[in-house]
Amino acid sequence: VDHLLGIKYLKPEDIELIFKTADHFKEVINRPIKKVPSLRDITIANLFFENSTRTRLSFELAEKRLSADVINFSAASSSVKKGETLIDTVNNILSMKVDMVVMRHPNPGAGIFLSKHVNASIINAGDGAHEHPTQALLDSYSIRERLGEVKGKKVVIVGDILHSRVALSNIFALKLQGAQVKVCGPKTLLPKHIESLGVEVETNLKAALEWCDVANMLRVQNERMDISYFPSTREYVKQFGLNKKLLESLNKEIVIMHPGPINRGVEITSDIADSEHAIILDQVQNGVAIRMAVIYLLASKIKQ
Ligand code: CP
Repeated sequence: VDHLLGIKYLKPEDIELIFKTADHFKEVINRPIKKVPSLRDITIANLFFENSTRTRLSFELAEKRLSADVINFSAASSSVKKGETLIDTVNNILSMKVDMVVMRHPNPGAGIFLSKHVNASIINAGDGAHEHPTQALLDSYSIRERLGEVKGKKVVIVGDILHSRVALSNIFALKLQGAQVKVCGPKTLLPKHIESLGVEVETNLKAALEWCDVANMLRVQNERMDISYFPSTREYVKQFGLNKKLLESLNKEIVIMHPGPINRGVEITSDIADSEHAIILDQVQNGVAIRMAVIYLLASKIKQ
């Protein structure tokens, strides 16, 4: 069975195929009838053990646009609360003739673990601070859409790199496509040995912004950290927050990205998040086409 567990397991040609397929689906979802009948014979379960707005709704919409049957599961209102294990939960759902599982889980490696114990195609929709592969795919796809290609582009990922599955998946995806990547954030929020992934560290935000074509501004994930490691919010905003004055002080135009949800006034001010420099809602829109592509390509292997 094939899965999408992380960008780490992909090759550049896999990403190219996903993007070409997404180009087709992007055209489909801009038609008056936004659906294709491709997956009428496939049933998909969306299992969310952690909160989500964009990813959960985007997967559901992608599945419906492909005409798949869809069931949704939220751990908070399920029998997980009565002590049922992950494998029991998923095997019970699969016994209802489900072909594919989309899963978000707070534990790093949860998708990898599940893929070894159940007989279904697994798509990782975010596993703790590990990977968020479809987010990285839609991020690169949005860079390609705005700047023509990803290869050779200079991308800085700013903020809480330590707790960010978006950062790790983006680093893998961008490097696979030949982009140059820097990370920028407080030392306490940068993983040790991050350079071993082929990225450079820049602790001065203005210098990082002067260097880059694209800045991906990440949210500080208070929910994943020991508060004592965190600089104060005021200190963070002063050193790593993106605002209009800073953007206008640059000698160039840059593209601003954010995976959402935004902490307005912390990592980015509203005037920048809502400006023409930002492609934040394009990222969300592209997420549907990217997820349609990933599901379609995996489902075609199930059907073989
Ligand atoms: N970007 C992202 O994963 O957002 P959600 O947590 O709302 O799905």
